[in-house]
Amino acid sequence: MTQIELMQVALDLSKDFKFTAKPNPVVGALVVRNGEIIAQGAHESWGKNHAEINCLNNLDKTLPKDDLTLYVTLEPCNHFGKTPPCTDAIIQSGIKKVVIGALDPNPKVAGQGIQKLIDANIDVVHGVLASEVADANKFFFFRHIHKRPFITIKIASSSDGMSHAEDGSIKWITSSAAREDVQHLRAEHDAIITGGNTVRNDNPQMNARVNYPINQPKKILLSSESNWDKGLKFFGAPVSIIDSRDLQDVFHSLIDEDICSALVEAGPKLVNAFLEDGLCEELVVYQSPDPIGPKGVSWFHDGNTIEKFGFKHTSSYTIDRDKKTTFVKC
Ligand SMILES: NC(=O)c1ccc[n+]([C@@H]2O[C@H](COP(=O)([O-])OP(=O)(O)OC[C@H]3O[C@@H](n4cnc5c(N)ncnc54)[C@H](OP(=O)(O)O)[C@@H]3O)[C@@H](O)[C@H]2O)c1
Repeated sequence: MTQIELMQVALDLSKDFKFTAKPNPVVGALVVRNGEIIAQGAHESWGKNHAEINCLNNLDKTLPKDDLTLYVTLEPCNHFGKTPPCTDAIIQSGIKKVVIGALDPNPKVAGQGIQKLIDANIDVVHGVLASEVADANKFFFFRHIHKRPFITIKIASSSDGMSHAEDGSIKWITSSAAREDVQHLRAEHDAIITGGNTVRNDNPQMNARVNYPINQPKKILLSSESNWDKGLKFFGAPVSIIDSRDLQDVFHSLIDEDICSALVEAGPKLVNAFLEDGLCEELVVYQSPDPIGPKGVSWFHDGNTIEKFGFKHTSSYTIDRDKKTTFVKC
């Protein structure tokens, strides 16, 4: 197998743990001898062993080390986090060549992991499938490059552009199949952000109800209210309440909590606040074929549209009777 093919195997392996490694990156590792994979491992869950350690633990320790190469999709860490530095374990393993996918954008690692290996006389190659590794870790790279979390906004809309009925008479705008799809969107993100009115009016649970293992997204409630009824379904799991109208402040709190991505599921007030501040990277719209009519509350006012907020359409398909459209920031 070629270097690229081997890195692709490590990358595919890493992606199996997309929902349990977050907010950490997905990482895969292989030990290769004469082009043949003899051990593999991945970073399976947040706070647990990194991929290199799982891979080295699966390696037959009696083998001579000189002709072994370690492949790892992301630069090995060189700092004490939840686990000790992987660079130390690699050096101690006696392996003399390491092929790396992408450099780690985390300033605690960024290039220092590679330098430590080079200083230990290990032959290092890097940049193999680097952009594919970055794509697989889109939220993690965004957070470290832009110093803020990647924000996705999800909205359900009636055919006439309404968010909800003012009198609360409509419980669901979209089909159960579309709402099922939202569960997967929630599962991908590190946090779910909503606003005070949504929790007050709808009593939503807002967790990810999926049938595969995940790290549940953290719940973030933006509200100035301090006396919340903890019997509401939203408080069925721990909730961070942030009392600030300044979304930049909010972002600092999210970064402090290690949140790389958040899904905003709120009503027009909070959704427009994010859009007006230019703090959304992706917008997912589930549109029903049914109108709400005059009792509806519109998503946008003053002639605003998704395009005027600087988004372009990237994909659309039908789920049951609804249309799911994804827009990204231009
Ligand atoms: N169709 C959909 O996809 C969808 C999704 C979710 C909700 N909804 C509907 O939306 C309705 C509520 O909509 P809404 O627009 O009145 O409320 P909202 O956007 O859900 O929440 C607004 C509240 O968020 C808090 N907030 C904190 N920072 C803010 C900021 N920078 N800008 C604006 N608000 C901020 C405030 O809470 P405090 O007042 O507590 O301080 C504010 O009253 C619900 O009844 C629900 O039916 C629709």
